[in-house]
Amino acid sequence: MNALFGRHCAVVGTTGGGKSWTVSKLIESITANTDNKVILIDATGEYHTLKSKSFILGTDSYFPYQKLSISDLFFLLRPTGQSQRPILLEAIRSLKMVKISGKSGVKIKSGQEKEKFHNYYQEHIAEIENNDCDFDITFLTQQIKAECVYQNGGTFTSPNVSIWGGEDAKTYDYQTSLISRITDLINTEIFNQLMGFKNSPTIHTSLIDGIDDFLRSEQEEDSILRISFENIPSSFSAKEIVSNALASYLLHKARKKFFEKSPIILIIDEAHQFLNKSVKDEFFEIQSLDAFDLIAKECRKYGLFLCLATQMPRDIPIGTLSQMGTFIVHRLINEQDKKSNGECGFFS
Ligand SMILES: Nc1ncnc2c1ncn2[C@@H]1O[C@H](COP(=O)(O)OP(=O)(O)O)[C@@H](O)[C@H]1O
Ligand SMILES: [Mg+2]
Repeated sequence: MNALFGRHCAVVGTTGGGKSWTVSKLIESITANTDNKVILIDATGEYHTLKSKSFILGTDSYFPYQKLSISDLFFLLRPTGQSQRPILLEAIRSLKMVKISGKSGVKIKSGQEKEKFHNYYQEHIAEIENNDCDFDITFLTQQIKAECVYQNGGTFTSPNVSIWGGEDAKTYDYQTSLISRITDLINTEIFNQLMGFKNSPTIHTSLIDGIDDFLRSEQEEDSILRISFENIPSSFSAKEIVSNALASYLLHKARKKFFEKSPIILIIDEAHQFLNKSVKDEFFEIQSLDAFDLIAKECRKYGLFLCLATQMPRDIPIGTLSQMGTFIVHRLINEQDKKSNGECGFFS
């Protein structure tokens, strides 16, 4: 038990080496010997026989997109730096303002007074810039179009700087790839099911509500929560982004000292699928999917512990790996994997 409480733990080894077996044994002894809770991220559904409260993401539950952070959303949509990023940010701000004002639909800018808009923005700035995605994403492509206007109204020789000008077709042209990515994302049924883009009534339970219920519950059978990612496709890096958002949610709870009295062990089997470095590396923006990293660095004192199982330690960000206090090492064949453990001081 000391290997799991008070520090983070990594279970490494080659496929078939017995990592999942070890994880099951760890869970068994946590629940048999302590009152602490386990949240298990099950990549493939292999733990379906485990006695636990279970959610299968995209099937019986969804992760509400409103709970993604803006940077999570940027990872999904991958706007290009110069031409798409600022427009996307403006569109999000506008849609948040629409939502805050209790209305619905698109905020038209062309021909509208800038000052009124800016005043409203200043008044609600904290809510607008709170970094979550609480706006109606079904209007996002239309809003992007509405953002593509000339800075000033009037004519070229006598501009009217107090209002926005007409449609700027050239700027809008640059948005094509972003718009098709958004359309693709929210119209693909599995992503809609996974993140509730269209608020379709066919789906069921919000995972966030499910987690809150689980954390609140004092029933004995509510000591393990299994979240299965078995039905989530790898496109759009959805696994990495949703698991990062989930980790972020737990990180915020931990920082608010929610787990100090009753620690949580967050177990991620097949962790390389969720903490994949390459997703980060290929995206050049400063933001990163760093929730697991932050948990690894900060959360021991808050009672939130990580247990990562993986056959590919080299795919786990080195910062996260170096925070691991306990290693349970099964057979490693690959030289690079051995080296990766060595870098953490394990075999050195
Ligand atoms: N200590 C053990 N005793 C008995 N069987 C084991 C043990 N460890 C692993 N196994 C069995 O070996 C197989 C592979 O183990 P598994 O935990 O799935 O490996 P991994 O997760 O590392 O790929 C499974 O069928 C598992 O039941
Ligand atoms: Mg396994």
